[in-house]
Amino acid sequence: MGFVVAVDGPAGSGKGTITKLVGEKRNLVYIDTGALYRCVTLYIIKNNIELDDITSIKKCLDSVNIEFKKENGQDLVFLNGEDVTKRIREKDVDELVSPVSHIVIVRENITTLSRKIAEGKYVIMEGRDIGTNVFPNADVKIYLDATPEERAKRRFKQNREKGINTPYEEILESIIIRDKNDKTSNVAPLKQAEDAIYIDSSNMTIEEVVNRVIEIIDEKKAN
Ligand code: DC
Repeated sequence: MGFVVAVDGPAGSGKGTITKLVGEKRNLVYIDTGALYRCVTLYIIKNNIELDDITSIKKCLDSVNIEFKKENGQDLVFLNGEDVTKRIREKDVDELVSPVSHIVIVRENITTLSRKIAEGKYVIMEGRDIGTNVFPNADVKIYLDATPEERAKRRFKQNREKGINTPYEEILESIIIRDKNDKTSNVAPLKQAEDAIYIDSSNMTIEEVVNRVIEIIDEKKAN
């Protein structure tokens, strides 16, 4: 059986926050597929593997064991037994994860793993290609978006809280470039599934988006 809610969208659309909150409120297991790509990237960094060395990448995929655990209400990610929740958000991983996520065997492996993690469970899964590729038959599909300006504003605010002072204009420019790369990529381009419900969160509060997603899920469950 099981029940799958797929949430896709660009970086900065609020996917992570929304997906986690909806998961808690509707008792759905929260799965962050970006974290899977980040773990593989961290392993590649730690073992000095070149991205064009496909033999080593294949071996790396066989050696990587990723687990999601909930401890004291916190969602933790473990890579081969080590808590890497914070480590996978650091700059070196940030910079390499996009090229790693474009390697075909990596995508195939993570897609299979994502399906396995969700098997038979009630899940809410966030990523880029969940509704289009990982679970084309998902029970609910959401495409969460926001304007580049709004996403840049959010990132700017987050950075300031972390003491990072990148100018707004610079953040906006990199978001626009990244969107273009993501949408025109040959491998798994970011696009909305035809049957996904589009939510533009630009002028919505977190609570409003969470309530809208819950409404969509509840409607689906009732039918
Ligand atoms: O959402 P995030 O920033 O943690 O994602 C990390 C990278 O992985 C990002 O470059 C997009 C990519 N990704 C992907 O290609 N497919 C997914 N299902 C999830 C993430």
